[in-house]
Amino acid sequence: MSPLRTRIASAVLLSLVSPLGYVSPVIAQQSAPPPIDPAALRFSNDLLKRMTLEEKIGQMTQVALNSPDGPGVEDRIRKGQVGSLLFIKDPREINRMQHIAMDESRLHIPLLIGFDVIHGYRTIYPVPLAMAASWDPQVAETAQRMAAREASSFGIRWAFAPMVDIARDPRWGRIMEGAGEDPYLGARMAEAQVRGFQGKQLSDPDTLLACVKHFGGYGGAVGGRDYDSVNLSDDQLWNVYLKPYQAAVNAGAGSLMSAYMDLNSVPATGNRWLLHDVLRDQWKFPGFVVSDWESVKSLTTHGFSKDDHDAAVRAANAGVDMEMTSHTFREQLPAAVKNGEVSQAVIDDAVREILIAKYRLGLFKNPYADLDRNARETLSAEQRAASRKAATRTAVLLRNEGNLLPFKQAPPTMAVIGPLADSKPDTMGSWSLAGHPADTVTVLEGLKQRFPSTKIQSTKGVETYREQPSIFDDQFPDPKPTLTTDAAKKAEFDHALDMVRNSDVTVMVLGEAQPMSGERASRASLSLPGKQQELLEAAVATGKPIILMLLNGRPLDITWASQHVPAILEMWYPGTEGGNAAADLISGDANPGGKLPVTWPRNVGQIPLYYADNLTQIAAEPDTRYWDETSAPLYPFGFGLSYSNFALSNLHVNESTLHIGQPLHASIDVENTSTVPGDDTVQLYIHQRAGSASRPVRELKAFQRITVPANQKRTVDLVLQPNELTYWSASTHTWVTEPGVFDIWIGDSVKANAHATFTLTK
Ligand code: NOJ
Repeated sequence: MSPLRTRIASAVLLSLVSPLGYVSPVIAQQSAPPPIDPAALRFSNDLLKRMTLEEKIGQMTQVALNSPDGPGVEDRIRKGQVGSLLFIKDPREINRMQHIAMDESRLHIPLLIGFDVIHGYRTIYPVPLAMAASWDPQVAETAQRMAAREASSFGIRWAFAPMVDIARDPRWGRIMEGAGEDPYLGARMAEAQVRGFQGKQLSDPDTLLACVKHFGGYGGAVGGRDYDSVNLSDDQLWNVYLKPYQAAVNAGAGSLMSAYMDLNSVPATGNRWLLHDVLRDQWKFPGFVVSDWESVKSLTTHGFSKDDHDAAVRAANAGVDMEMTSHTFREQLPAAVKNGEVSQAVIDDAVREILIAKYRLGLFKNPYADLDRNARETLSAEQRAASRKAATRTAVLLRNEGNLLPFKQAPPTMAVIGPLADSKPDTMGSWSLAGHPADTVTVLEGLKQRFPSTKIQSTKGVETYREQPSIFDDQFPDPKPTLTTDAAKKAEFDHALDMVRNSDVTVMVLGEAQPMSGERASRASLSLPGKQQELLEAAVATGKPIILMLLNGRPLDITWASQHVPAILEMWYPGTEGGNAAADLISGDANPGGKLPVTWPRNVGQIPLYYADNLTQIAAEPDTRYWDETSAPLYPFGFGLSYSNFALSNLHVNESTLHIGQPLHASIDVENTSTVPGDDTVQLYIHQRAGSASRPVRELKAFQRITVPANQKRTVDLVLQPNELTYWSASTHTWVTEPGVFDIWIGDSVKANAHATFTLTK
């Protein structure tokens, strides 16, 4: 047990039996979270001694201003019954609330103001899946640093991010909020975001406390249906799904959010094995845990707790320290403590960690928004420039036949067609709740700005909108369709095709409107929604050169386009400066260098499809896994083109024999054989040939994105860290590092073919 926490004594016994039915592992920690600041601990312990039970439970209560609990919150703040607020955006309002807490409550404890700062606050950055596509942790770190600077100037000091849930099913709408399918890439992106949010030291006024979510395994929802159960084997949990959370914890993340769903039939929010045995005992997490929205109350919906009282007791004893939105803690914990169902120690542990977070953020000294800094920071030129740069680094070029891109010179005429071509919300993407559509530059606007001498015509051609209501409709309304009759729809379709015919080149901006991706936005198909596919096919049939630009949050079914549309540029949801970034890329001012962070299926029936599977029974070739479809993806993990051409050669592996615990050093030459500078990402994969359990065909273990000048060669050095050879063995139920022969490949996608082997010895 961590020295800090005095959780109930039965914890020791409970920790021996996991929901997976075997003795919990004791992990040899490769690294650990930074230690607690002793001054913060002393301060919190002193304050704790002066608090009543009601005030303590107040700290464990978070109120959403947009929930039925919001009105009248002032009085409860005054009485010390509220520890945190969410969904409050106006800095003056935040200051008013903080003044009530600081000036009018008995103990003057500041509020912790949280918000979903997922990919920016007022300035919107590319969505997290896009950030992962940069294969550049610095892009993610910078974006979250900038977001922290801006959001903190509004008085917000807690981001409900990073979301580090591995997702291997693109039907799941929340795949856009994470880093994709891979635990290694996911872990690097998780750490980078924590560093970005929390800055050099949390006490700096421009930081946000990170909240790693959704613990754990939320991305494994059955059928990709959001909130559905997750059933993960021990192998998948330890070797894949839990890895990015632990990386974020080790990077010093100050808080963590428990997930909505059942993990192997125990709801994550009542899962003591997850929240205590893994998080506290093994990982030594020193921060606090907040539930997800009403996920304590919903323990009863799961068929887990029998009522609100039971839900509060089980969540608190499992390790939830703060309840988001529902109020079972507030209503049920006082009685539960009095009758001994929840110990005073459980309450004190929870409150202490919340107070430590507030102390570390410097909130006891100054919890207020700085309105001058707010005026300087909001949508500043620096913010916009950072967002634009990020959006150029996150784009992935999927096809470029005949080097259609970039434009060699400004075309005399251009058509910019599609429902997303001039749509501001759809350029921002979901989870842009503090962004203003009016601030956003659309693709059409960006292209007009960049090509002033080109005659640009634009129209939607078709409309696309989500038929089912979205949970965000109140906060971020989606425009409703204007083409309501068949005749109007046909006229618009034909109008768009006329524009294509009359233009030298056409940019088709297609994909998903923003409410189609994100929370509660799962899909059963991956097709281009609405009539976009028909429009695309009709445009291609004109014989004119077509560029397909995608705005979306998940892999889409573009199998037809991959054969018939000469240029395809994946922009994801690129954010406030998305249109300018798109113009930078189309014009060649920027060169795309992103790579896919997720395997791109060719058919929804292949899902789940990910590269790191085990090879079982028969070899992969010939491809007979389906008789009516190949099992190969449309685009492999790690794939992405560039306007430059790269040739990789001269793989060098320094160590052909390695002792356990030693790193391996490898290098490869990357030659830019073209006349334009560009980026390539070198990726190192391994395969353990034999062991106590089967190992995936390939596993990413190191990568580096580099810029190579035209006609030049660079040597890229990569290090395979010794802990990357350790895995959780499903046969021994322990972490193992097993001597034997390993394959190693280095290249610029998972299809890397420069190959060597090494032998691991004791
Ligand atoms: C529910 C979502 O699952 C979570 O990610 C988010 O942070 C909270 N709502 C607060 O908006």
